Amino acid sequence: QPNGLALTPPMGWNSWNHFGCNIDERTIRAAADAMASSGMKDAGYQYVVIDDCWHGPRDAEGNITADAGRFPSGIKALADYIHSKGLKFGIYSDAGSKTCAGRPGSRGHEYQDARTYASWGVDYLKYDWCNTGTQDGESSYTLMSDALRATGRPIVFSQCDWGSNKDWLWAQNVGNLWRTTGDIYDGWESRAGRQNGMTNIVDMQAELAHYAGPGHWNDPDMLEIGNGGMSNEEYKSQFSLWAEMAAPLMAGNDLAHMSAETKVILTNREVIAVDQDALGVQGQRVFKDGDREVWSKPLKGGGRAVVLFNRGAQASRIAADWGMLGYPRGVAMRVRDLWQHKDLPRASGSFAAEVPSHGVVMVRIDN
Ligand code: GLA
Repeated sequence: QPNGLALTPPMGWNSWNHFGCNIDERTIRAAADAMASSGMKDAGYQYVVIDDCWHGPRDAEGNITADAGRFPSGIKALADYIHSKGLKFGIYSDAGSKTCAGRPGSRGHEYQDARTYASWGVDYLKYDWCNTGTQDGESSYTLMSDALRATGRPIVFSQCDWGSNKDWLWAQNVGNLWRTTGDIYDGWESRAGRQNGMTNIVDMQAELAHYAGPGHWNDPDMLEIGNGGMSNEEYKSQFSLWAEMAAPLMAGNDLAHMSAETKVILTNREVIAVDQDALGVQGQRVFKDGDREVWSKPLKGGGRAVVLFNRGAQASRIAADWGMLGYPRGVAMRVRDLWQHKDLPRASGSFAAEVPSHGVVMVRIDN
């Protein structure tokens, strides 16, 4: 890993999925307040990340400034506020001349911007890939990674180039996480004009499992839980599969106004523990038959987190047999249901359950 950070997948909140460009310091403070008071912080969420649209112009010396209308108190004050809640602060820039929303990018200002971020107390940088022309991906990301390291401040580096530079092939020692796909769309699957529904993202990310590990993670984009485009059953599936794939868990909803159901999903500690397992192995699909899938994630100590996933329109029975999980056939194993929060009877040879349409059954299987 480039900096000794993110030994487990980063957890936090980012403004983009819910607020888009429509942000200001009150929005971000409210998210930090809610993270600290709702149980999210206690469940492990840490980084409060401002996405695109915080920037003002560069000053006469080329220093980046905040949009004075939206962030009148300045970014340093916002970072201090977030730190005072026991949370960490993240910001967003772009490797090209402009961000995706047309604000100033960091191209030609990499070391200068890194120093500015460090002086503000930034703990996390999401670095986008719009308006990069003929720039080379590896050298552009390496330049900012070096600039961040040169500040001496620990800053998680999140590469956001949608898989277009195949970061997994070279970024192990450059970034802590890299996007594997285009932007997620808050829906079950792609439809005209909306390419990357939740299940499409799962299929793309699944191919890359062996590139992930402590300090360097595949990033299937942020959570949509609570944003309204999917059912709670489907959101439980997103949360379970993201944890199973050792994905960064960046909530993308309006934390200050979330429903009880949304909070229950986002703060399920048994599912979060799978995501944060110290072994740091990305789970894989070990069985597929039409709409019925079994996923397995090896855990520290020899257990497995197993997701039975039903993509179909009807409830369906799905079985994980020990062969799929790499266990000897006869052995009796303990089974714990991570959504019902209860131990199930020991199972020998296989574990099967009825899985709701578009839903999961998620269990921990241990010796
Ligand atoms: C790109 C990124 C998104 C978001 C927007 C902001 O599309 O992939 O996650 O940061 O830019 O403009």
